[in-house]
Amino acid sequence: MELRNAKKEIHHRVFVNRSLTLENIKCYGFDMDYTLAVYKSPEYESLGFELLRDRLVSIGYPHELLGYSYDPTFPTRGLVYDTLYGNLLKIDSNGNILVCTHGFEYLRGEQVDEYYPNKFIQRDDTDRFYVLNTLFNLSETYLYACLVDFFNRTSRYKNCLKGFKHGDLFMSHRSMFQDVRDAMDHLHDTGTLKERTLKNLEKYVIKDPRLPVLLNRIKEVAKVFLATNSDFNYTEAIMKYLLESPAGFKSPRKPWRSYFDLVVVDTKKPLFFAGGTVLRQVDTDTGKLRIGTYTGDLQHGTVYSGGSSDIVCDLLDVRGKDILYVGDHIFGDILKSKKRQGWKTFLVVPELVKELHVWTDKTSMFEELRHLDIFLAELYHKSDEHSSPASFSSTTQNGSTAERHLDSGTQECPDISAIQSRIKMVTYGMDLCYGKMGSLLRCGSTKTLFASQLLRYADIYSTTCLNLLNYPFSYLFRAPHVLLPHEAAVESQTKEQITELSEHMLKSTIIKRQCECDDGDCGQDDNCARNNPASSTET
Ligand code: IMP
Ligand code: MG
Repeated sequence: MELRNAKKEIHHRVFVNRSLTLENIKCYGFDMDYTLAVYKSPEYESLGFELLRDRLVSIGYPHELLGYSYDPTFPTRGLVYDTLYGNLLKIDSNGNILVCTHGFEYLRGEQVDEYYPNKFIQRDDTDRFYVLNTLFNLSETYLYACLVDFFNRTSRYKNCLKGFKHGDLFMSHRSMFQDVRDAMDHLHDTGTLKERTLKNLEKYVIKDPRLPVLLNRIKEVAKVFLATNSDFNYTEAIMKYLLESPAGFKSPRKPWRSYFDLVVVDTKKPLFFAGGTVLRQVDTDTGKLRIGTYTGDLQHGTVYSGGSSDIVCDLLDVRGKDILYVGDHIFGDILKSKKRQGWKTFLVVPELVKELHVWTDKTSMFEELRHLDIFLAELYHKSDEHSSPASFSSTTQNGSTAERHLDSGTQECPDISAIQSRIKMVTYGMDLCYGKMGSLLRCGSTKTLFASQLLRYADIYSTTCLNLLNYPFSYLFRAPHVLLPHEAAVESQTKEQITELSEHMLKSTIIKRQCECDDGDCGQDDNCARNNPASSTET
């Protein structure tokens, strides 16, 4: 019962990378899709996948593709697609490859080496490597794997390094990537996906009665704006559904726009955080844009289209550092607003619900991995029978603990192969607990590119923006004290010394106390009545 409460508690928390005082925030900005409007998973991704797959078939791809349906256990957000070889890659922040799949096949070390001799990619090569950063990209990620799987398994196509050949037709991975990307843009830009979403809002969008409560409370203490890449008509329909539908709502019904001081649609983030685009007014009766650039003051209840983050600051009369922007897109919402404008940032990570479940339920695996890492490091310094897992014990033959002092003159090379393969096994086992492509944030003890960006650019993060409800607006989100490796080494050495010192002091205190007793061989210490007058006082 207690464990269940603890789990519940953790899902309601906001996590902190950099200290942030809510009291100093004068303005809260919100993204819409996957931030205020959270789509139901996997229903929404399945819809995206089916529309995407059908679009490919409609432009000439084989009908057999219709046999594939979305498998939510396969894709993880943040993977990189190699458009040259058709591989999906999980990488760390430096471009080192952590996981590599071709279709649904996991490539082993030597196979990965054949494609990437350094097990490394130049991720700046954005022409070749495409980062599948958003939750919208999940259906697309799965489709890339399906395409490679299909052409690989279909005998009429010959498998080549850069694609598949059938007669004089060459289906390069590059051209398939382009087709999928175009299909994805088509789905979004023509409104096909939006139309299907609006037809069945209950199926695809989570409506939470706490959202109007949160926005109401924020508006009492600060300015609030909405900045979304979606168009006005879609924004209007979604926000109406989220804020104006009465079911289960405690607060009185009011127009959705009154929750905001400023609403900007068609923002074209990340461009919005740089030069931006022309700011126009939207005619909210027709949804059409007014001609010309809007140059006036902020008009309440008006909806704007385009613009830039600078214009938002001007209209609301706030500075970048006074804004907390809440979004789900690590690049378009968080990295750019932080790097370009110095805004405070809150990243919404819906996957954290699952990540936290696995973390809590599989603690033993993480502990084993931690111990293996420590043991591996200690093999080169000292062998301590207490810290080594039994199966890898390297104590001396007579079983005693041996101090090793390996240095550059040492010829001996500890055999670490057994530990390394165990680390690989545990890492793979851990990955599978999250899904077929593993965790969003880690691969064994290595952080993914996504995790590194989250740590660097998101000041705070949580599973949902609604978790702001659990903190007063005067709250100080305090970042945990993180030591650099050299500081941590000093700290652990100091701890060891303190432990040794306190053990020594404890021993000498006992001896001293025994000695203070007149009767040297009474055999007692603290409890000896002569050492401890209080205990001898009869009441
Ligand atoms: P936001 O998250 O509220 O800024 O809005 C995201 C918008 O981007 C939605 O209107 C999506 O339809 C759109 N979108 C997401 N992914 C793509 C894409 O790959 N191509 C074109 N539009 C996209
Ligand atoms: Mg979004």
